[in-house]
Amino acid sequence: MPKLFSDTVINEVLDRSNIVELVSSYLPLKRAGRNHRACCPFHPEKTASFIVSADKQIFHCFGCGVGGNALTFVMQYEKVNFREALEILAQRSGIPLPEPEKSDFQKSKEDFSKNIFSLYDKARGYYHANLMVSPEAQAARAYLQKRGISKETAQHFKLGYSLPGWDTLIQYLKAHKASLALIEKSGLVVAKDEGGYYDRFRNRIIFPISDTKDRVVGFGARVLDNSLPKYINSPETAIYTKGKNLFGLNLARDFIRSLDQVIVVEGYLDMIVPFESGIKNIVASLGTALTGDQIKLIRRFTSNVVMLYDSDLAGELATLRALELLIKEDMNVRIAILPKGDDPDSFARKHGQEDFLKMVACAKNIFDYKFDLLLSRHEVNTTTGKDKIVREILPTIKKFKNQTMRAEYIKRISEKLDLDLGALFKDLEDTSYDYEYTQEPDQNASTTAVEHYRLKEFPITERMLVKLMLEELHIVDKLKNMIEPSDFVEEKLRKIVKFIFDFFAKGQECKPNILMNYIDDEEAINLISELSALEIHDCPDKEKLIEDCVKRLKRDKILYLRHEIHKEILAAQKTGDDEAVNRLMRQLDNLNKEYNSLDKQGKDHLTRSLVHG
Ligand code: CTP
Ligand code: MN
Repeated sequence: MPKLFSDTVINEVLDRSNIVELVSSYLPLKRAGRNHRACCPFHPEKTASFIVSADKQIFHCFGCGVGGNALTFVMQYEKVNFREALEILAQRSGIPLPEPEKSDFQKSKEDFSKNIFSLYDKARGYYHANLMVSPEAQAARAYLQKRGISKETAQHFKLGYSLPGWDTLIQYLKAHKASLALIEKSGLVVAKDEGGYYDRFRNRIIFPISDTKDRVVGFGARVLDNSLPKYINSPETAIYTKGKNLFGLNLARDFIRSLDQVIVVEGYLDMIVPFESGIKNIVASLGTALTGDQIKLIRRFTSNVVMLYDSDLAGELATLRALELLIKEDMNVRIAILPKGDDPDSFARKHGQEDFLKMVACAKNIFDYKFDLLLSRHEVNTTTGKDKIVREILPTIKKFKNQTMRAEYIKRISEKLDLDLGALFKDLEDTSYDYEYTQEPDQNASTTAVEHYRLKEFPITERMLVKLMLEELHIVDKLKNMIEPSDFVEEKLRKIVKFIFDFFAKGQECKPNILMNYIDDEEAINLISELSALEIHDCPDKEKLIEDCVKRLKRDKILYLRHEIHKEILAAQKTGDDEAVNRLMRQLDNLNKEYNSLDKQGKDHLTRSLVHG
């Protein structure tokens, strides 16, 4: 992304932000020695392997490996881009950001959006006040009460009511200094044939739709009886595109993240009523099918989706369509089944939280859902019926990579439909599929095993040296004459060392949190945060440690080169290239001499001292 702000501004914002304060405004941190710890907000875990360091102004999770500085934290937690993260941090620390250059067109578009946001906000306030206190809203309040919506819920969701008059909203907005031009473009009013405007929503319950930043972007409006149309919605505007928002996400997002699961329902009340009964990780897709944009929005918070649509034909079709999209987007999806005649709203009201959770826990995987659906739709006892079922279910099975699962499903089809197992397997082979299905990641791998693995992942000497350089400036000064980036075998580390040396040459400080801003490589950033977060224990003599490291680095490099040459020799011998063999042998010989002249100290001292803190 092109940088819109200068490095000076960025570094100043970073300098003035305190990462411990920042992170603890999002999640509870516990002090642990020099660091702070918490359960990682970026992956599900029970033991706290997420570390925030005040000294280094970085965070790192030893469980999932993510890490970075205050900016990367905001980017990852708030799911915003670099610029938005910088704005958030700048605002927190009271640093005014210079206006980035914009085209006039862009400026006027942004001004318009800003004004529409504020107009919608006024409208929401107006509708909400109507519902809460207007004598004319008696019927609306009675309606909501009948549907089990308490006053608190109405307040929480800022539900509203549009009065029966033709221009009450227009009058209100005008009285509150909104320009007529803006009101006209807002979509909240409709042009009359004879000129002038009237309110779009009259005598309806108003459901404000918010974006993830809690700004109102649209409204849905329901009649109080059975008349049609049941719902009307505000039209698309500069701030609202149909199928790009999810109703309730602004309130549910943190629950979705921490439970690492989202329940997707269809309607406003299907979201509101379960939410108020304690099911907090729930959003509504508003309309029938879940769109690709909505799935991308969900993916920012979780990849585990439970679909909970009405169990009527329309709901089933919408579910099947969403499933295809969800699989394509690599989401883990299950389908919960409601009793016939219920929707999530009525089910939550009748049965409450506990039964609701049970129903969600019983959600079926795609195979079971689709197979059961097909069994209920087609004649199981006729050849045509069987053929239809098999034809529709095989592409679904093909999406599972796991052979055991496939075999299990094929076996079940064979038993249920009394079909030949071998023939079914053959049909499966002949079935084509358009995309691949990814298995769930292994959630059972223990954190300690992962940490252990990460520690062993890179050569310890190389890691230690980079860690030391990240720690103190004078170490960089000392090391730059003793080693060079090419001494590092591990590519990521080589890249980081190069950055550190360049930084030093330019007279810049290599504080890890600042260094990260210049590296456009997520894995390298994660590695810097990891190394910074590790503590060096049992090290009374740092100078000695550095010396040992340098020696071992040289040694390891020779060992590595020897290994590589050995491989090349074997390859050359295979092809009978005697000349190459001889040349390589000479190289090997030289390396051996070099190796033997090395002092082989420091090994044990080193491996013991790098421990995560
Ligand atoms: N919807 C819409 N316009 C309509 C009908 C439906 O926008 N004319 C959307 C609404 O977001 C609605 C959702 O589709 O919430 C599901 O529709 P439906 O199941 O018919 O309504 P419910 O949400 O169940 O509404 P209620 O319980 O109030 O009847
Ligand atoms: Mn309903």
